[in-house]
Amino acid sequence: MDANELNDKGKKMIDFVSSYWQTIRSRRALSVVEPGYLDTLLPNEAPLKAELWEDVLRDVEQLIMPGITHWHSPHFHAYFPTGNSYPAICADILSDAIGCIGFSWISSPACTELEMKMMKWLGKLINLPSQFYTPTNAGGVIQGTASEATLVSLLAARSKVIKDKNLSFQDINSTKMVVYCSDQAHSSVERAVMLLLMQCRKILSDSEHRMNVKALSEAIKKDLEEGLTPTMCVATLGTTSTCSFDDLTEIGKICNEQNVWMHVDAAYAGASFICPEYQYLMEGVQYADTFNFNPHKWMLINFDCSALWFKDSSFMVEAFNVDPVYLQHVNQKVVLDYRHWQVPLGRRFRSLKLWFTMRLLGVEQLQNHIRKSIKLAKDFEKLVCQNPDFEVVNNVILGLVCFRMKGDNSRSKKLLEKITADGKIYLVPSEINGVYFIRFAICSWFTNEGDVNEAWSTIESLSKDISMQETF
Ligand SMILES: Cc1ncc(COP(=O)(O)O)c(C=O)c1O
Repeated sequence: MDANELNDKGKKMIDFVSSYWQTIRSRRALSVVEPGYLDTLLPNEAPLKAELWEDVLRDVEQLIMPGITHWHSPHFHAYFPTGNSYPAICADILSDAIGCIGFSWISSPACTELEMKMMKWLGKLINLPSQFYTPTNAGGVIQGTASEATLVSLLAARSKVIKDKNLSFQDINSTKMVVYCSDQAHSSVERAVMLLLMQCRKILSDSEHRMNVKALSEAIKKDLEEGLTPTMCVATLGTTSTCSFDDLTEIGKICNEQNVWMHVDAAYAGASFICPEYQYLMEGVQYADTFNFNPHKWMLINFDCSALWFKDSSFMVEAFNVDPVYLQHVNQKVVLDYRHWQVPLGRRFRSLKLWFTMRLLGVEQLQNHIRKSIKLAKDFEKLVCQNPDFEVVNNVILGLVCFRMKGDNSRSKKLLEKITADGKIYLVPSEINGVYFIRFAICSWFTNEGDVNEAWSTIESLSKDISMQETF
């Protein structure tokens, strides 16, 4: 393939993408293929001779698309959103074309410097205290996912313990290190703790699904008495099940008092802080050591782009500094090398999509997107509340409504089975303390008022049978 061919095929690809977006409304949100469907449809070996572009594109539509769950369909309301927009896609094309691996400043100076700048833009945009990006050791880095961000933050917290206690690597006993999070924290926290062979203490949440701060304080005290080392506490802003918010001020005071590293996981909710009226939700963030959110969730940036800020990156940078000759460069004492801020060596030019999206949409359009999603969620909440057979089980603050049919869990389970079989919309469930409910998240930037009304009509009409079966 040469540049001329790219000119032709690239344009065709963009046409294909644009037509995909134009037809997404009519595509079934949830794929219905059976496991292994593709194995029988594709040949068992790679082709020896080049095939035609037209044949490949035909197979995309005929073989691949049936196996796609369309996350950007206006009828997709499962999980949390994943971002996308034309500036982000164009920036990723450019990133792929440049194809640099920006592990050190010299490996592509613009890759490092644009990322540093974008993390400052983004930090200011969400009103993150300047302690996270102004002091020499402070700063932001783009990780792939919130799960990686938690792991990286935990590695830094472990380094701090090692430094504080003046331990050598031989003395480290990870199993004595304890990480605290609420029972509503994302499973990736427990996973990071398992990976580092530490102990995870899940603190019970209160009736509003927020970490019980008194229980946290007692757990830390007990662990200290038993000779364990409280190492990190993860506070969540926007929990996965119900989008609840831990109290950063109260948790932060305890962490600072006990010298426990505090990490804030705002994977989904963090994007809402680009709107000043939602910044109150991160009150107390000044107590944290690290803060993370995923622009790739709700800020119209495509996967992967997870923003992580350190107040003091030196625990990460110095503790895992391997410096082989082939990676060294003359400026490494005066510039930042992102290879020290992450687990892998290689890294893509991801800041381009932040730069393109913020410039080409402007902050105002990004804010409009957040505000529109929240308004639609509030509209849906009203519709649910109008039906006496249903109840809303979360405090709807952002774009997630958790609802259920009143009474036994089996009614809501039955309802979700019917919704899934019907296939017009896609929703997933969750359960807290034995109470099963259905999550309705506003995900796609295509979703409008009509879609929300239609989704509710579908749910209501599918629920009618269930009520009748129960009643008669
Ligand atoms: C609160 C929270 N934290 C972490 C994650 C994991 O995100 P990622 O896929 O970026 O690792 C999620 C996923 O939805 C989440 O809701």
